Amino acid sequence: VGVNGNKVGHLFENISSFVRQCIFSVLNVGPVPSHIAFIMDGNRRYSKKQNLIDGNGHRAGFSALINMLKYCYELGVKYITVYAFSIDNFKRRPEEVVSLMKLMQEKIDELTKDESIVNRLGIRIYFQGNLKLLSDHVRSAAERAMVKTSGNSKAILSICVAYTSTDEIVHAVQVSCEEKWDEIRKNNDGGNLIRLEENVKDKDEHRIGVTNVDRHMYMSVCPDPDIIIRTSGAARLSNFLLWQSAHCLLYSPAALWPEIGLRHLIWVILDFQRNYLYLKEKKKQS
Ligand code: FPP
Ligand code: MG
Repeated sequence: VGVNGNKVGHLFENISSFVRQCIFSVLNVGPVPSHIAFIMDGNRRYSKKQNLIDGNGHRAGFSALINMLKYCYELGVKYITVYAFSIDNFKRRPEEVVSLMKLMQEKIDELTKDESIVNRLGIRIYFQGNLKLLSDHVRSAAERAMVKTSGNSKAILSICVAYTSTDEIVHAVQVSCEEKWDEIRKNNDGGNLIRLEENVKDKDEHRIGVTNVDRHMYMSVCPDPDIIIRTSGAARLSNFLLWQSAHCLLYSPAALWPEIGLRHLIWVILDFQRNYLYLKEKKKQS
């Protein structure tokens, strides 16, 4: 039964992969988004719904992420971003934070291996956020994964941890101001500092602008997302990619994150293609 079961499993996998390829080649006749971002909400509710032990909802969430990553990659989406842990999530029960961080470390180590899905497909990983808020163990695992996948160039997976958009914006503004100030000081050739302050006041070339801030965003490694998908029916951004989402299509299916599947991806791609010209026009006007 075991051998037969295995054979049936393989056959089913081959058939579904073939059906997926057919669907994706049809979708590829139209425009395909280059960047999709996911707010992976609903793992604990899934755990309750399925009577799983605590923490297994997040495990199921990780499997859903790997499936979605594979689908997006096969479809030709070059950038995939996920909201894995917000700075506000540190306020959850300490036991939950500890167990989520353990899971995170285990899964990051798994992704770092040579034979992991990201290395097999050639996907580069970035961890985005205020990484110094992470424990040393998780931060070094994240750094190892970034180094290990730095030679991959087929697609980019950005994992937002210890991330909030407001924190990202404040960080980018701070770095931009420091950079501008360094530049001014360098051009001043060691002149009088008080006179220098008077001289730079109210001068446009000494102000920071959108392009300065843009350059220092954690997410500057990718273009702005075309689509943000938030599962479990809530249509809120919860401090995710606020700077980058001005012209982005939002989709909030009722499914909990571990329940997300191919059908949701197909549906949102069709919606993106229906609205493509309108969204492009809006982007151009800004
Ligand atoms: C939100 O559901 C989910 C999280 C806070 C954690 C998501 C993390 C993973 C899936 C693991 C990712 C790991 C790597 C290495 C990328 P929730 O807890 O808010 O559930 P609820 O909305 O039902 O309460
Ligand atoms: Mg939630």
